[in-house]
Amino acid sequence: MADAAEKPADDLTAEEAVAELARLAEEIAGHDRRYYAEDAPSVSDAEYDALRQRNASIEARFPELVREDSPSKRVGAAPAGKFAKVTHARPMLSLDNAFSDQDVADFIDRIRRFLGLAEDETVALTAEPKIDGLSAAIRYEAGELTVGATRGDGQVGEDVTANLKTVAGIPHALAGAGWPDILEVRGEVFMAKSDFQALNAAQEAVDDKVFANPRNAAAGSLRQIDPEITARRPLRFFVHGWGEVSDFECFTTLIELNAALQGWGFQTNPMLERFEALDAIIAHYRRIEAERAGLDYDIDGVVYKVDRLDWQARLGMVSRAPRWAIAHKFPAEKAQTKLLDIDIQVGRTGALTPVAKLEPVTVGGVVVSNATLHNADEIERLGVRIGDTVVVQRAGDVIPQVLSVIKEKRPKGAKRFKFPDRCPVCKSLALREDDDVVMRCTGGLICEAQRVERLKHFVSRNALDIEGLGTKQIAAFFADGLISQPADIFTLEARNAELKLEEREGFGETSVANLFAAIRERRSVALERFLFALGIRHVGQMNARLLAQNYLSVGSLLAAMREAAADLESAAYQELLNIDGVGPKVAEALVDFFREAHNRDVVDALLDQVTPEDFVPPETDSEIAGKTIVFTGTLEQVTRAEAKARAEALGAKVSGSVSAKTDLVVAGPGAGSKLKKATELGVTVIDEAKWIALAGLS
Ligand code: IVH
Repeated sequence: MADAAEKPADDLTAEEAVAELARLAEEIAGHDRRYYAEDAPSVSDAEYDALRQRNASIEARFPELVREDSPSKRVGAAPAGKFAKVTHARPMLSLDNAFSDQDVADFIDRIRRFLGLAEDETVALTAEPKIDGLSAAIRYEAGELTVGATRGDGQVGEDVTANLKTVAGIPHALAGAGWPDILEVRGEVFMAKSDFQALNAAQEAVDDKVFANPRNAAAGSLRQIDPEITARRPLRFFVHGWGEVSDFECFTTLIELNAALQGWGFQTNPMLERFEALDAIIAHYRRIEAERAGLDYDIDGVVYKVDRLDWQARLGMVSRAPRWAIAHKFPAEKAQTKLLDIDIQVGRTGALTPVAKLEPVTVGGVVVSNATLHNADEIERLGVRIGDTVVVQRAGDVIPQVLSVIKEKRPKGAKRFKFPDRCPVCKSLALREDDDVVMRCTGGLICEAQRVERLKHFVSRNALDIEGLGTKQIAAFFADGLISQPADIFTLEARNAELKLEEREGFGETSVANLFAAIRERRSVALERFLFALGIRHVGQMNARLLAQNYLSVGSLLAAMREAAADLESAAYQELLNIDGVGPKVAEALVDFFREAHNRDVVDALLDQVTPEDFVPPETDSEIAGKTIVFTGTLEQVTRAEAKARAEALGAKVSGSVSAKTDLVVAGPGAGSKLKKATELGVTVIDEAKWIALAGLS
């Protein structure tokens, strides 16, 4: 009977089917609980689908054996992939965080510097609570609600229109007058604490699942397949922003816009206020913090936004977050628990990270059993020993960390931890570079841990993001020798006659077909994602984008990298160093990577399978689109940062030095050697006034 779980549904005896159905009911209920109530799914969507599918096929063969508690009788929330996808017309951004008053002061200073404001000019900010819900985008055309979507990954969300239409505070048609023809509002869907408690009490009374917190309840309620269930859940909606709009010209401030949104039938946060001085903003933050426990909804901070809309437009965004807004978070939640052990994790660059294994404890509504100890110095600094009682802290989505040790509670025999001098996986020596606090395994390619971590990084969300191929599957495929480098992922389908993935635990015909479809979809991928996915040290999303922006195609990038790696005196290496934002550390890491024959082989093999798409500069009809620009000397009207951001937004590349490839030099007073070089090379030179006109900043 132990084998029943492995037999195809068609081969089961009735007796085995009884056992299988019982096992599946229990397992699926467990996954549902972890997904809905704990917000901590332990299987991929594909695996979950496969379980439900198997349950359904066994029930189809043995209808008389369908259990009372069968998963097929419960309408669950749809697993990812069950809703149609919606591409956001403008990306849904996230927010940078401030954790202290000083961070807020710095935020305002950054704005002043970017905009080049005079000392006596005030920067008015709005402040409102940051609600712990989920964001949604709702589109109106000619005043009628057309599409409602979840945030998803910020670029593509899920179409939950029917469900959102059941939410109080989301009008089906706009009220009042003066709304633009196309209006996409963005805001937070949430459940009030009191409604959450009532819902859980009702669920408990009928033995149905209870939710861990209001956020999970709101998320689970919104992602129901059946909108009638969503309609019975008391969801609310506050607008806090907008996406695509056909015309907002008549508004000059957020405050005005907010009033208009209310007139059109939306609710905005009643605690939203406008302030001109830092002290007043911080005082408002403290007030909201003091009222937090008494509010009927969960909040985790206060969001500040620049009130002037023209300034917002000029400030723009930097890597997924606007420059004009910030979330001032409340202090992290803390709890005490016991340190049971310390594990060493090996990262994709060989970094050895000590991880505290804790007696599970609830910190701010989430069960924590692992926390990072960062590195050997940190263990030393904390003076922590195994067996100690420690304070752990969890702030937002970041990995929980061990904050301090309660020395008074130290038990007899608490053990000191000796940091290993060898990699726990491949046993190679672990070393510490001069200016680094991190011990690294020197095993490189022979270290299985590094190899598997690199593969996990390759498929991670901001890299190739292959649905149905998470860390768990990668680890299992790697362990069983199915994949050893990224290219192997793309040959899985061709090899499947032999591999028979559908027979592996957690997979079935459908989920394997879905997986192959998801992999096929990624045979074409944005150049910057491709670069980020390679996992080169110091090449995070930002640098990957800079590189894509500069080299435009994978061909020219690789040619440049090979030339640079072969000769540090080459023009290619100089060009790399000249990319504004790429420093020597990054350049060196790239060169180190491409110097290794093995890395080049990995990239070549991958390129046989995947086609990175050329970087397409933002489509603008500006004259400077596609040009390479150098700014030199002092700019007097706009700051260097704004000039650069503007040039990039118009599709130009900004370089730090003048070469034959430079198209345009913008020279202000005090320009020296760069101006001279530009003149020598016959590059067009313009002054700031011309630049302002050219960039449409006047
Ligand atoms: S403004 C550019 N205001 O926080 C994004 N966001 O961490 C502008 N959120 O995805 C968002 N309350 O879903 C804004 N009052 C508030 C908010 C808020 C909650 C969420 C929002 C966003 C996330 C960013």
